[in-house]
Amino acid sequence: MALTILITSGPTREYIDPVRFISNASSGKMGKAIAEYALEKDCNVIVIKGPSVPIETSDKCKVIDVISTEEMLAAVKRNLKYADVFIGAAAVSDYRPVKVSKIKIKKDSDILNLQLIKNPDIIKYVAEHKKNQIVIGFALESNNLLSYAKKKLKEKNLDMIVANDVSTIGSNKSMPCLLFKCGKTKKIKLSSKENIAKEIINEAIRIFKNNNTCKKNN
Ligand code: C5P
Repeated sequence: MALTILITSGPTREYIDPVRFISNASSGKMGKAIAEYALEKDCNVIVIKGPSVPIETSDKCKVIDVISTEEMLAAVKRNLKYADVFIGAAAVSDYRPVKVSKIKIKKDSDILNLQLIKNPDIIKYVAEHKKNQIVIGFALESNNLLSYAKKKLKEKNLDMIVANDVSTIGSNKSMPCLLFKCGKTKKIKLSSKENIAKEIINEAIRIFKNNNTCKKNN
């Protein structure tokens, strides 16, 4: 039976007033490449995406557009039951304004203080509420990449994490390291996001089929 892959992709936006928001530089290209290769492997795909590169809807690919982190979480909650694999490729906004102004804020003062509150961690929610799903996340860091990635793998209770350095942002290529729950690691050579998507989906299918058992290589 075809596997169903649930993917979060792109950035989320947190509005300050009707025209301004805080967000981040995610293009959504990685999530799109993962969705496209999953379709090639005959999986069913559900993509929940923030404002980013378009992804075509089809019989096998349901695309749900959201804006904020809370909307993304609500869509994940509604769709998690259909998934065999969850891939959190979204670069979720970590904070949102405590208050959203209903009218455009005037630029009268030289300093504008914004109070921000932490957003929910979507992938952590998934790992805490999963039934048999395989859960895969991403880590992007400017320093101490592998140690931060290992920490996230453990703290978020993921099955695999894709560790990317900061040069990946906006680029069409990257050189990630895949870290697995059991301690195994796999370095990927510099290649296109399409090729990295293949590695991620093939590993996801392998982990799912092997019932999450793996041999440690270090
Ligand atoms: O932001 P962070 O570096 O912790 O992201 C690591 C992983 O957690 C990514 O896969 C990201 O999609 C996911 N994440 C999430 N919800 C958040 C923050 C991150 O699902 N609020």
